[in-house]
Amino acid sequence: MASYVFVFVVLVLASTKAFASDPSQLQDFCVADNTTKVFVNGVVCKNPAHVNADDFFFSGLDKPFDTKNALGSKVTPVNVNNLFGLNTLGISLVRVDFARHGLNPPHTHPRATEVLTLLQGKLYVGFVTSNPPKLFSKILNKGDVFVFPEGLIHFQLNIGRENAVAIAALSSQNPGVITVADAVLGSSPAIKDNVLEKAFQVDKKVVDYLKSQFWTDSN
Ligand SMILES: *[C@@H]1O[C@H](CO)[C@@H](O)[C@H](O)[C@H]1NC(C)=O
Repeated sequence: MASYVFVFVVLVLASTKAFASDPSQLQDFCVADNTTKVFVNGVVCKNPAHVNADDFFFSGLDKPFDTKNALGSKVTPVNVNNLFGLNTLGISLVRVDFARHGLNPPHTHPRATEVLTLLQGKLYVGFVTSNPPKLFSKILNKGDVFVFPEGLIHFQLNIGRENAVAIAALSSQNPGVITVADAVLGSSPAIKDNVLEKAFQVDKKVVDYLKSQFWTDSN
């Protein structure tokens, strides 16, 4: 009997993981109440009687964002942190602006799959699988769509002659971003040199040089 229960629990857990990214809905909506100090997995719901259309509305993705930084790119998110109506809905989006040669550097979203539509320009994009690392890459032109599966490291580089603009949807209200270079070389406090020397198979001088760079994050 106990083993049947165990198998049942394992199957339920497995199917939950297969179907859901963020938790599923138990009511029409649960607009985030950013005034509460209660910590839950997600954000506490605002009283539905006080919810209005503006809780589901965001404006301002029509114009280019400033890409004057070391990477030449800018990611502008619309997620539960600035569109409270997204709370518990399991979805969000970003606008990504690229200057010429601009790069959205290798990064991963720990909680979301991403589907990107290129609105303007030409991008070299790709993601790498879990070990053994295999690269899937593609050149995108205007109107092309590419998927970056949940948790995998991916990037986008502008290889066109003009600025590029993309809109990407993400399967979480709060996808999170881990930028590889920043995480490994720019953490606070820093990871000890001997860890990085061994990991990258380089000497201390190279590690110190890399750590001394200004790790910028366009996300
Ligand atoms: C809650 O969100 C509103 C609207 O974006 C903002 O004006 C306010 O400062 C936020 N309050 C807190 C405590 O974050």
